[in-house]
Amino acid sequence: MISLIVAFDENRVIGKNNSLPWHIPDEMEKFKKATMGNVIIMGRKTFEGIGRPLPGRVNIVITGDKSFSHVGVEVFCSIEKALEESGKLEKEVFFIGGSSIYRQVKDLVDKLYISYIHGKYEGDSYFPEINLEEFQLIKEEHHDDFDYKEYMRKTPVI
Ligand SMILES: NC(=O)c1ccc[n+]([C@@H]2O[C@H](COP(=O)([O-])OP(=O)(O)OC[C@H]3O[C@@H](n4cnc5c(N)ncnc54)[C@H](OP(=O)(O)O)[C@@H]3O)[C@@H](O)[C@H]2O)c1
Repeated sequence: MISLIVAFDENRVIGKNNSLPWHIPDEMEKFKKATMGNVIIMGRKTFEGIGRPLPGRVNIVITGDKSFSHVGVEVFCSIEKALEESGKLEKEVFFIGGSSIYRQVKDLVDKLYISYIHGKYEGDSYFPEINLEEFQLIKEEHHDDFDYKEYMRKTPVI
């Protein structure tokens, strides 16, 4: 299963200065629960924002920089290569951002995990438009600071 996980606000803001604009522990917990034991694929900037591999998950970073390396992280030079390799692991594969990665994968993922953060934050990074008509809502939770929803693509891409 190829999935995308994101949190965005009422203006679709996802980040500011290469970090999250909000601190919402309940939301971090949703991210942790979904991704634990699985594969997470991220852009180089998101990895640098986090600053370390996230424990308990296969961490994959995508970069065009051939000299990039970091302990605890697998590095690929394209999304296709990262998918090819992670497909061998028989785990759920999560694209975890950032903006440039979401733009490239939004039409190929089967499942969406979205936290709709309440409010409008200052930001410099946005989640792209995505056609939710192509997806069916399969789970919904209301939290104080966000609404959490999971969607499955109605017609699988592959
Ligand atoms: N709210 C959320 O759920 C969430 C989740 C994740 C991230 N974020 C936020 O998103 C922001 C970062 O997003 P961003 O778009 O600036 O950066 P990004 O997507 O994290 O990373 C961009 C970098 O990834 C590499 N890359 C992307 N596509 C590639 C491809 N097809 N082939 C090879 N390399 C590729 C390039 O690295 P090189 O330049 O090294 O070649 C590119 O500069 C941050 O503010 C972060 O906090 C928010």
